[in-house]
Amino acid sequence: MAEVRIRNTNERIAGEEQVKAFLESQEVLYEHWDTDKLPEPLREKFTLTDEEKAEILATYDSEIRDLAARRGYQIWDIITLSEATPNIEELLKKFEAVHTHTEDEIRAITAGRGIFIIKGKDDVGYFDVELTAGDVISVPENKPHFFTLMDNRKIVAVRLFIEKDGWIAEPYDDPSFVKA
Ligand SMILES: [Fe+2]
Repeated sequence: MAEVRIRNTNERIAGEEQVKAFLESQEVLYEHWDTDKLPEPLREKFTLTDEEKAEILATYDSEIRDLAARRGYQIWDIITLSEATPNIEELLKKFEAVHTHTEDEIRAITAGRGIFIIKGKDDVGYFDVELTAGDVISVPENKPHFFTLMDNRKIVAVRLFIEKDGWIAEPYDDPSFVKA
């Protein structure tokens, strides 16, 4: 289940309702999918065949279509990142820069863990959202953020897009951002 850490105060927010309420106050959508639906062999598998990716998408087809109907997504796919991903170090370095998109960035984690660093409202500042399997998050368009892996360095997630072109990263230069 997702947890939030507010960087300025080190305050942590846990519990589905509390996390959801905080994220809502920052205009970030948060939902949770039932991880028991996923066939057990796929819950801890980070190198996936096309058939296995299709099986994950089929498992969550009704959840995906529900989101798509509400929010206008047209296409979706599966992304996997792990030590088996070629150039993982370079990729992560590229990821770890604050940026924005003209579309919202939505991720539904189906295995592993990941973390979004998001610029909140002025009175909150940057906060981290740590995500585990079942967590669904949507960072709104034009909201500065980045995504990276956590210590286990493994993740499988569903991505949804209105148009893939809308998801190009625009660098967001913010001298107030402190990485650690
Ligand atoms: Fe992004």
